[in-house]
Amino acid sequence: TPVYPLVVAVDGPAGSGKSSVSKEVARRLGYGFLDTGAAYRALAWHAEACGVDTDDAASVISCVSSFEYRIGTDPAGYAVQVGDVDVTTAIRDPDITAVVSRVARVPEVRTHLIELFRSIIADERRPGIVVEGRDITTVVAPDAPVRILLTASEAVRIARRSAELVDTAPEHTGEQLRRRDEADAKVVDFMTAAEGVTTVDSTELDFEQTVDAVIGVIRAAQHEV
Ligand code: DC
Repeated sequence: TPVYPLVVAVDGPAGSGKSSVSKEVARRLGYGFLDTGAAYRALAWHAEACGVDTDDAASVISCVSSFEYRIGTDPAGYAVQVGDVDVTTAIRDPDITAVVSRVARVPEVRTHLIELFRSIIADERRPGIVVEGRDITTVVAPDAPVRILLTASEAVRIARRSAELVDTAPEHTGEQLRRRDEADAKVVDFMTAAEGVTTVDSTELDFEQTVDAVIGVIRAAQHEV
């Protein structure tokens, strides 16, 4: 019988620090790491590369069959590839961020990627895997033994995102982040914790404290079993 890794599911809005915190938690525990948002971004990149109109769901779906997504789960050597192209940096481009919600709202896209995430989780050979996104605690891995909603006040999330995007004015970042969360929240609710999900509010915490808080939730869950 296969031995499944311990799944740590982490959801939350844009700018909550999900990616950086989840990656560091995985590194410290020797777990794998899966950034599901990167797959939605890579598919948006692929759709643009295919030259399809991302506003047209049928065109986006036609592009899914040629989507060759390659991602490892090593938190130390994280790289994202579409076919033979390394898109690790390109998928963070503001042009991709601006269109990714349109791709992520297409039900066929979600079904396809959810299956992909489940197979990546099942293939993990480390003792655990930290999986972060918007619907991990509710749809991708609702049975995960550890489920966390990582939140922070909107002001703090905008400030953190602005610090990352040095070339962009904070007003613009704030507007974009609000608009994207609003669009994404219509597809899956990641602003409120589902039953059994532990909320970690990082508004008053720095990076180290947030990592410790998440590890604390994982340790507490391990004591229960
Ligand atoms: O976490 P991120 O900003 O890299 O995610 C990019 C987009 O992908 C985000 O706007 C919403 C979508 N997404 C999703 O719909 N479901 C997930 N599990 C992860 C991301």
